[in-house]
Formats: sequence, C-alpha cells, structure tokens
Amino acid sequence: MRKRCPSVLKTKCGKTHVQQTPPSLSRQELLDRAERGQLVLRDMRSADLNQVVQIEFNAQLSPWGRISFEESLTRQHTCRVLLLGEKVVAYHVVCAIADELHVLNVVAALQLQGLGLGHRLMQDIVEITEAQRLAKIFLEVRASNHVAQNLYAQWQFNQIAIRKQYYRPNKDGLREDALIFVRTMGNQIRIPG
Ligand SMILES: CC(C)(COP(=O)(O)OP(=O)(O)OC[C@H]1O[C@@H](n2cnc3c(N)ncnc32)[C@H](O)[C@@H]1OP(=O)(O)O)[C@@H](O)C(=O)NCCC(=O)NCCS
Repeated sequence: MRKRCPSVLKTKCGKTHVQQTPPSLSRQELLDRAERGQLVLRDMRSADLNQVVQIEFNAQLSPWGRISFEESLTRQHTCRVLLLGEKVVAYHVVCAIADELHVLNVVAALQLQGLGLGHRLMQDIVEITEAQRLAKIFLEVRASNHVAQNLYAQWQFNQIAIRKQYYRPNKDGLREDALIFVRTMGNQIRIPG
C-alpha cells in the first residue's frame, strides 16, 4: 500500500526540504471543513501571492518565482486558488490557446498533499475547459513525478509524447525528461476518488 501524507524528509516529487511540517489535517477533517463551506475555490489575487509563492517553494522541484505568477495574473491566464478558511492550500494556473487548455502549474500545499486537493483542482480545470468549450487539455510532467501522473491518469489524460531532457539540470547535472499528457474532451465528466 502506498504512503499518504509525507512526514519524512523526502517529498513525493523527490525534493528534499529543510523544513517539514507534519500533515495538519486528516482527509476526514478536510472533508468536514469542506462540508461546512470552508473549502472555497476562487480566482487568484495579487494579495494571495505571498502564500502561493511559499507553497510553491516548498512543494516544487523547480519552483516558479513570484514574477511568473505576477505575469500570469497580468496576462489574464486563469489562476485559481483553493482556500481553507483564509489560507491558500492549493492552486492552479492554466491558459487557453486556440481550442486547447494548457495547464501551467498545479500544486497542493506540501503538508496537505494526499487529501484530495489535487482532485479538486483537476475538477476545476476540467470544468473551465468544458465552460469554454475547448477541445483538449495539455500538460507536461516530470518523468519521475508518479504522483502527478497517477492523478492525471485518473482524469483521463493519456501520455502522447516525451520531451527528452526537457528540464533544467539538477544538482548532479542531469536533465529530466518531460512527459506530455493530453485529455481529449467530449467524454462525460467523471469525478474520481
Ligand atoms: C500532484 C499534486 C498536485 C496532487 O495533489 P494531492 O492533493 O496530493 O492529490 P490528491 O490527494 O487529490 O490525490 C490525487 C491522486 O494523486 C495520486 N496520488 C496522490 N498521492 C499519491 C502517492 N503518495 N503515491 C501515488 N499516487 C498518489 C493518486 O492517483 C490520487 O488519487 P486517489 O487518492 O483517488 O488514488 C500534489 O502532489 C503536488 O502539489 N505535488 C507537487 C507539485 C507537482 O508535482 N505538481 C504537478 C506538476 S506536473
């Protein structure tokens, strides 16, 4: 059985962190708070960026800097945050190009991963795609990021290509491949989990 909720020094995406916070909520507590209307999705605002950048830095192997989020807000990419009470707990950034939606960033706060937030973000992404009547959703993911790949597979994404040595070199000078995933719309929305 796979482990949920990282509490050791290595995250599921393989990044080692200096600071670790144990999971602060169980899935049930998260669901209970969501039931009470405390888990809310809305558009990202500039005022969210301090929290977003902190989450990004802790969760990502190659984190976006603040300027990338600011550019996405300026360019009117669709930037959404998932809030638990006042706190940002997850977010995504997507943009439409012609009849395609491109997923630029998808993150759940490190200490709250494995609780269903990723599913909630994917549901929002699919709903945005449906609302804009776009034909396909594209994204890229590190070859080693099996957690994200599992998530995408559950949301009917299929791998269609590999970009060899796409990512910047890691500390050992090695460049990781990117896998390109696509979901073709027109299927009925199925909500896994
Ligand atoms: C990828 C990410 C957004 C998933 O969010 P999450 O809240 O942890 O995911 P969920 O709890 O909703 O789980 C969604 C699915 O992910 C997969 N998953 C989650 N944790 C997993 C684990 N420890 N091992 C394997 N698969 C896992 C499963 O398919 C799971 O579905 P299931 O619980 O119905 O089996 C999150 O792990 C994250 O932010 N990672 C760092 C940033 C990142 O890699 N982003 C994607 C870049 S392409």
